Amino acid sequence: MISENGLKVLERRYLAKNEEGKLIETPEGLFKRVSSFIASADKIYEPDKDISELEKKFYDIMYNLDFLPNSPTLMNAGRELGQLSACFVLPVEDSMEGIFDAIKHAAIIHKSGGGTGFSFSRLRSKGSSVNSTGGVASGPISFMKVFNSATEAVKQGGVRRGANMGILRVDHPDILEFIQCKKNDKEITNFNISVGITEKFMEAVEKDEEYELIEPHTKKVKGKLKAREVFDLIVDMAWNNGEPGIIFLDRMNRDNVVPELGEIESTNPCGEQPLLPFESCNLGSINLVNCIKDNGIKKEIDFDKLGDLVDTAVHFLDNVIDVNKYPLEKIDEMTKKTRKIGLGVMGFADMLINLGIPYDSEDAIETAESVMSFINERSKQASAKLAELRGAFPAFEKSIYANKSMKLRNATTTTIAPTGTISIIAGVSSGIEPLFAVSFIRNVMDNDELPEVNPLFEKVAKERGFYSVELMRKIAKMGSVRHIEEIPEDVRRVFATAHDIDPIWHIRMQAMFQKYTDNAVSKTVNFRKEATREDVREVYMLAYKLGCKGVTIYRDGSRESQVLNIGAVN
Ligand code: CDP
Repeated sequence: MISENGLKVLERRYLAKNEEGKLIETPEGLFKRVSSFIASADKIYEPDKDISELEKKFYDIMYNLDFLPNSPTLMNAGRELGQLSACFVLPVEDSMEGIFDAIKHAAIIHKSGGGTGFSFSRLRSKGSSVNSTGGVASGPISFMKVFNSATEAVKQGGVRRGANMGILRVDHPDILEFIQCKKNDKEITNFNISVGITEKFMEAVEKDEEYELIEPHTKKVKGKLKAREVFDLIVDMAWNNGEPGIIFLDRMNRDNVVPELGEIESTNPCGEQPLLPFESCNLGSINLVNCIKDNGIKKEIDFDKLGDLVDTAVHFLDNVIDVNKYPLEKIDEMTKKTRKIGLGVMGFADMLINLGIPYDSEDAIETAESVMSFINERSKQASAKLAELRGAFPAFEKSIYANKSMKLRNATTTTIAPTGTISIIAGVSSGIEPLFAVSFIRNVMDNDELPEVNPLFEKVAKERGFYSVELMRKIAKMGSVRHIEEIPEDVRRVFATAHDIDPIWHIRMQAMFQKYTDNAVSKTVNFRKEATREDVREVYMLAYKLGCKGVTIYRDGSRESQVLNIGAVN
């Protein structure tokens, strides 16, 4: 059953409306539209196949909220726009034509609900010479501002607010300006920014050495900086307001399945999907709350159901690639060479609560390992099964899998998405994040406020007889139940919220999911307001050591407008 909040979200942007803005589609209608359109891709491979059974299967997993594809698929499948992917990476070449082509392409993608990531690392540095005009270059940050304004202008007309990721390599001569470009959080608001960190740089940090800045268009050394000073500046800015994040470029490229096709230099806006230039990827997430069974003695993970869902979801996501209307010919071409899909999860924290496992415990880390290793392995088997009929992804022979006996239909199968909107539709905790608060106000899309008390908590409180209106108010105000004595100890442990959880557990959880995820993991490491720069630094170092592909942190209260607010009573 879709919750009231879920319905509100669907009504606002997902369900079809007529010209007067009146709804002409129900949620059932939406799932029907999406399932029949996505199932129709099977006809490409088996023209005579009766796809009604498959349609029903796709319909059921969405209707039961067991699995949801990313928002553009829900919004656009079977409709005129037809663009179904959430994630794109576009190249930004070091020329006026290249820069403005990228802006135009991004606008087209934003219009359809997709997000774009860019590396600005190829742009020559500020003040370097421009041969054709004899002038001087304005540098990557000034061009980023142009991208930002273009996004701002397109925002209103699109299906959702355009989102961008901007990356600059740590060895770019303009790196210091880049690190500080969002110091004022009213600037460049349509971008998340991340510094592209290299292993060479991290070694220099560890040894307290200088490292070289390289001018991208000449490859000449433009200067040197002390690695620790740069690292400390990144930490300082992130502590200040959460930006920039960092991504580990060498780590990402070690997982580049087809290095011959190009180098990975950027991710999509929320960081979970590293892609080659012009590649796109569609995501989908399994609702883990619906994969729990009661064996008569206790609750446990229902791996049979989870396995079936993975099989159906992989089939679904592979079909999306074929019926997708790509915004550019080049994107169509690149996407179909690797056929990347990103299957992930939502409701992980809710699942832990149902199983009685605190998020910040070894048990939770082990649960993450058993769930994600299972999904990753099973998704490869499902992809291999599709390859038997449909063939391996076209770049397979050039890929790192070429000599393996198992052919794969998809170069990657797993990604942990934020599931910002689809988790609201499903009514569960987002992605692999812990609960933000047991009671809170969530500002979603255009400042609409949706007050919420965690339904699982309400249920437990009523069952165990400690529910009262005053207590719910108190929790809303404090944002945490850990220190409220009228609540039983075990309940306090299990209903851990993001700020109760030590940042080290956040990063350990991210690292465990990353171990079994082809692409990357969307995760915000939450810090309390009192956290120090040293705390942030420690988490960055640990993320690097544990093999994460990037880190995003957020210290409570450090931005004027927060998506989620603790302590706000409705
Ligand atoms: O829940 P939903 O499918 O809407 O999206 P998500 O999992 O929160 O975000 C997945 C990806 O969608 C992001 O990393 C972006 O690439 C893209 N996105 C976007 O372009 N614009 C937004 N306002 C939200 C997400």
